[in-house]
Amino acid sequence: MLLCYFLLYNGIGDNMNIVDLINKKRENLELTKEELNYIIDSYMQGITKDYQISALLMAICLNGMSEEETFNLTEIMLNSGEIYNLDNVNGIKVDKHSTGGVGDKTTLVIAPLVASSGLVVPKMSGRGLGHTGGTIDKLESIEKFNVSLKREDFIKELNAIGLAITTTDMDMVPADKKLYALRDVTGTVSSIPLIASSIMSKKIATNADKIVLDVKVGDGALLKTKESAIELAKLMVKIGKHFNKETIAVITNMNYPIGSSVGNGLEVQEAIQTLKGAGDPDFRNLCITLASYMISLGKNIDFESAKAEVITNLDNGLAYQKFEQMVSYQNGNIKNIDISSKTINYKSTKEGYLNNIKTLKLGQYVMKLGAGRESIEDNIDYGVGIVLNKKIGDYIHIGDTIATIYVRGEDTSLKLLDDIFIIEEHQGEKEPLIYDVVK
Ligand code: URA
Repeated sequence: MLLCYFLLYNGIGDNMNIVDLINKKRENLELTKEELNYIIDSYMQGITKDYQISALLMAICLNGMSEEETFNLTEIMLNSGEIYNLDNVNGIKVDKHSTGGVGDKTTLVIAPLVASSGLVVPKMSGRGLGHTGGTIDKLESIEKFNVSLKREDFIKELNAIGLAITTTDMDMVPADKKLYALRDVTGTVSSIPLIASSIMSKKIATNADKIVLDVKVGDGALLKTKESAIELAKLMVKIGKHFNKETIAVITNMNYPIGSSVGNGLEVQEAIQTLKGAGDPDFRNLCITLASYMISLGKNIDFESAKAEVITNLDNGLAYQKFEQMVSYQNGNIKNIDISSKTINYKSTKEGYLNNIKTLKLGQYVMKLGAGRESIEDNIDYGVGIVLNKKIGDYIHIGDTIATIYVRGEDTSLKLLDDIFIIEEHQGEKEPLIYDVVK
């Protein structure tokens, strides 16, 4: 069989046939760079059809890809669009990416925090889909905040204040946009080489000098096991190095929501509290860790020195000033964040320890309140969401308010929350916030 494929595929770049390539991957053989190029190229041109790529993606999901194939796929996707030119931006540029979670507003804190230390943070972010939120939606809860910067304005802002956050550029990695939409509806998202090449092609196209990745694992994350998160983290770090971008991945817990709020405007409010030196201690610690790795990479200093700088800038107001500067540079009115004035308290009918918050279900609940979208065309309500008044490990009495729901309409389906907040007689063990770091 191997010899047959060797003869068939050696030097026939011009005569490639998509069905042969699907068969080859189905037989768990490696695709060459030329073959991968043909697949992506012909798909982008509409010659190869969705149903053929779907079959190939499923074969990749089942059989995986070698490192060489993954590097090649990343490069081909990267070259399907434009690579940002940041040569005219002064200073060391550091980027950050999260694989997505519930209540994940870390970018809103980390980006100004790192910029306040003198590094440059060129941040391209996405909108939320499904149970996970997106930084762009959160920023849009600030009145008049411009999330769609023109390129020249992005560069201008980076040079002026060292920070800008904008939507992902339409011309960047178009192959990933097309492939990701197909993976989403064909059960082929959860392949590690496909996730790695999708994320890293976009990171490399943004073209920062250094990258910190927040790989989330657990109930509310894309990846459910630590082993798979470590595998993804290692692969992405290798891809980063392959493209000369020093990369660190931090593996973090997504078995409980991040911080104390979920919902767009509410998360901006929480980020502001954290930037002012207050806020949820777990969330603050997560931000401190990720920002310290970014500064440690960007300034080439050890983690502890970077951390000292991070804590100083959080507590002396510099990080918050940087956030304010960005909001005003992008025309936002920080005094007007969309948060609904109508609230309902969810009270406990049980006594015991809050041992678990079902994170995926909580994300879905908040999405149904109107804060998230099921399909990318849906409109969302920036003002709705949930604020958690209790943390995992807290002892709860009957009648205690566990959470406050910010709503617009009448139907809050409060009953659903009984399956989300798990209260038990004996105290369970709280898992760590940060599992591992891959360099
Ligand atoms: N996020 C991405 O950008 N791509 C994936 O494949 C998964 C998560």
